Amino acid sequence: MFWPSSILLFTAYIVSGQNRSFTIDYDNNTFLKDGEPFRYISGSIHYSRIPPIYWKDRLMKMYVAGLNAIQIYIPWNFHEPVKGVYNFTGAHDVEGFIKLAQDVGLVVILRSGPYICGEWEFGGLPAWMLKEDPTIQVRTSDPTYLQFVGGWYDVLYPKIKPLLYVNGGPIITVQIENEYGSYFACDYNYLRFLREKAVELLGTDVILFSTDGSGAHNLQCGSLEGVYTTVDFGPTGQKCRKAFFLQRQWEPRGPLVNSELYTGWLDHWGKNHSVTHIDVVAKSLDLILSMGANVNMYMFEGGTNFGYWNGANYPPYQSVPTSYDYDAPLTEAGDITDKYIALRQIISKYNPVPKMPIPPSTPKHAYGKVSMVFDGTVQDILTRFSPPLPVNKSQLPLTMEQIGSYYGYILYRHVILVNLTTASILSVPGVRDRANVMVNGRPLGVLERGGETDVNITGTKGQYLDILVENQGRIGFGSGMLNNSKGIISNVLLNGSIVEGWEIYPLPLEDLLRVNLSMATGISPSIYVGNFSFQGTAEDTYLDMTNFSKGQVFINGFNLGRYWPSLGPQIRLYVPKSALLAAPSINYVMLFETENVLCPSKQICAVEFMDTPLINATVPAGSSEEEGQEITFLRR
Ligand SMILES: *[C@@H]1O[C@H](CO)[C@@H](O)[C@H](O)[C@H]1NC(C)=O
Ligand SMILES: *[C@@H]1O[C@H](CO)[C@@H](O)[C@H](O)[C@H]1NC(C)=O
Ligand SMILES: *[C@@H]1O[C@H](CO)[C@@H](O)[C@H](O)[C@H]1NC(C)=O
Ligand SMILES: *[C@@H]1O[C@H](CO)[C@@H](O)[C@H](O)[C@H]1NC(C)=O
Ligand SMILES: *[C@@H]1O[C@H](CO)[C@@H](O)[C@H](O)[C@H]1NC(C)=O
Ligand SMILES: *[C@@H]1O[C@H](CO)[C@@H](O)[C@H](O)[C@H]1NC(C)=O
Ligand SMILES: *[C@@H]1O[C@H](CO)[C@@H](O)[C@H](O)[C@H]1NC(C)=O
Ligand SMILES: *[C@@H]1O[C@H](CO)[C@@H](O)[C@H](O)[C@H]1NC(C)=O
Ligand SMILES: *[C@@H]1O[C@H](CO)[C@@H](O)[C@H](O)[C@H]1NC(C)=O
Ligand SMILES: *[C@@H]1O[C@H](CO)[C@@H](O)[C@H](O)[C@H]1NC(C)=O
Ligand SMILES: *[C@@H]1O[C@H](CO)[C@@H](O)[C@H](O)[C@H]1NC(C)=O
Ligand SMILES: *[C@@H]1O[C@H](CO)[C@@H](O)[C@H](O)[C@H]1NC(C)=O
Repeated sequence: MFWPSSILLFTAYIVSGQNRSFTIDYDNNTFLKDGEPFRYISGSIHYSRIPPIYWKDRLMKMYVAGLNAIQIYIPWNFHEPVKGVYNFTGAHDVEGFIKLAQDVGLVVILRSGPYICGEWEFGGLPAWMLKEDPTIQVRTSDPTYLQFVGGWYDVLYPKIKPLLYVNGGPIITVQIENEYGSYFACDYNYLRFLREKAVELLGTDVILFSTDGSGAHNLQCGSLEGVYTTVDFGPTGQKCRKAFFLQRQWEPRGPLVNSELYTGWLDHWGKNHSVTHIDVVAKSLDLILSMGANVNMYMFEGGTNFGYWNGANYPPYQSVPTSYDYDAPLTEAGDITDKYIALRQIISKYNPVPKMPIPPSTPKHAYGKVSMVFDGTVQDILTRFSPPLPVNKSQLPLTMEQIGSYYGYILYRHVILVNLTTASILSVPGVRDRANVMVNGRPLGVLERGGETDVNITGTKGQYLDILVENQGRIGFGSGMLNNSKGIISNVLLNGSIVEGWEIYPLPLEDLLRVNLSMATGISPSIYVGNFSFQGTAEDTYLDMTNFSKGQVFINGFNLGRYWPSLGPQIRLYVPKSALLAAPSINYVMLFETENVLCPSKQICAVEFMDTPLINATVPAGSSEEEGQEITFLRR
């Protein structure tokens, strides 16, 4: 990075000898930082969606935009993926991220959940809770749920306490729950439990706050005594005055706060990419700041749902793409946009923005085409894991949670008992969320939650009926969160009779490196492998999936995310340079394609690394720009 680190403000160290305080001045309707009036102009950034090598770059860009604060979520499931197994290192180093923000000169508004929404898998809640209790009433005072939440905070909050502003860190406020008034339960005992837990483990010298959508009912069920009420609202229409008027109903005095001013909006697979016009956001920010209010822009950088971390909405069930670009002021890849420049200009009317050059966007490189060679079907790879995949045997289908494999894919295998010479109807009403049905490796159809859940099958006694089910992300908003099990959650019926006798293979695919890669012949769903190498240093790039239909892609074992160009709007996946290796290393690309390859040859079909994103298009099924099938070796 080109900026000298001596320019950075080491706020903590400057005042560390003094008494630090962050409080509310109810007389003057403002926050007080060390006794002085303080108004935050903040942006949301999710460390779980940004590669750690870029944390500082993004925080610097936020600082240079004139922000004095950031707002972050802590996704519980990111840190405790398996019950009692914690991760706070590497990409999960939340303490390191918070300290970095402080080094850069930003204070931190902490949203510690346990529920975070954020279009994140299960709204941040760990799927292992569904193994412990499939009917757990999340976000209520269900004793089992409270026990898990309490256990989590006993681990998390002691790490957070030294990072509170009063203790020398940057954290000025801590949110209780998240837009709880939008949830049907309206369970004050649950909110009280969260408040007591925060007071017990963090002490009383930090401001606790709530955030709710600007409707009277939302504030009624989301607010709690001892927790400062804030509102959130988007940039359009007359929402601003109405929302702050409502905040005043609950907080007659104190600072006005919009905890989420939407700079853009989220996407769903199969829907157009969301765009919010620059002027609309800029005008709204201007109005809020002119009122002396505090504001957090959601998102300032959206980032990426790497791996299986995307969430979903319901009803109808709609899954969130891999890109979480959000049309935010910094792109998914952290690039400067016109929106960034415009918002910085607005901020400069109210607060001095740092007199330093805006950090540049990172270079992007078009590594070009990489031939992907068919390596084997899902049936092939079942037998090629070393050590072998675990297999669960059960009379009736078990859910993903029941077998303790929470993400990715799962395959249900049944040996057909009688000849099915004429079509019989196979029904999988409980498919979560999409399934490929095969008999003896022959694809017979795709079933989908909320869509077709019946398929006609034929087959012969002794053949395998395979149902490969994909988890597309757990619902993270509303009452659908109560029914979030994955895999097959009902019985499977053949002509109306329950099918019994299953072998169940968990296929998270994150251990694809354990597969013995060697050529085989077959049909989809299938693994494709490719490789490329380059000289020099790695740079960010975008992986274009136009020739493929749907699946999951891995680079050097890093789970880049889901691709689905036939549905869109995302066609290319952001590849951070940290996923790539310069020569003499070889980069391995692997993908699991579950539907259709659009190249003339199913044996070889290229992906292409390009230097621009594409998240606002669709590739109509059947279209393919790839004419030849030449093997392309790539060199920089
Ligand atoms: C810090 O607080 C203590 C106790 O309130 C007080 O005695 C002391 O003067 C304060 N120091 C500064 C530098 O404000
Ligand atoms: C805050 O309000 C009090 C009482 O109205 C007033 O005396 C004081 O000057 C105000 N402080 C600031 C910083 O405006
Ligand atoms: C924690 O996550 C990092 C990636 O951020 C990984 O390298 C490490 O192995 C994980 N640690 C544990 C204990 O799972
Ligand atoms: C989830 O929904 C399915 C289908 O509506 C239903 O059969 C099942 O009982 C529900 N499960 C829970 C835990 O509510
Ligand atoms: C989606 O985008 C297409 C192409 O730009 C446009 O024709 C269509 O009206 C858009 N649909 C919606 C709902 O905005
Ligand atoms: C599934 O299989 C694994 C590995 O064999 C085993 O540890 C686990 O207990 C099984 N779970 C169920 C629900 O059968
Ligand atoms: C089932 O089909 C196989 C293959 O067509 C045939 O060899 C076998 O005799 C059939 N069995 C019955 C019971 O019809
Ligand atoms: C299912 O019903 C169809 C149509 O009645 C029939 O042809 C087929 O043999 C039945 N299959 C089984 C397994 O009973
Ligand atoms: C199954 O086959 C029957 C008879 O050919 C047809 O009417 C029905 O639409 C088919 N069902 C599905 C789900 O394809
Ligand atoms: C990998 O597969 C090949 C071909 O099936 C086989 O010859 C070889 O022994 C396998 N290697 C391992 C380590 O299993
Ligand atoms: C790289 O891919 C090419 C083309 O498919 C293949 O011939 C070669 O064996 C691969 N190299 C390695 C090291 O896997
Ligand atoms: C997609 O985004 C690009 C870059 O912002 C823009 O030029 C193009 O018009 C957009 N296409 C659609 C269909 O919105």
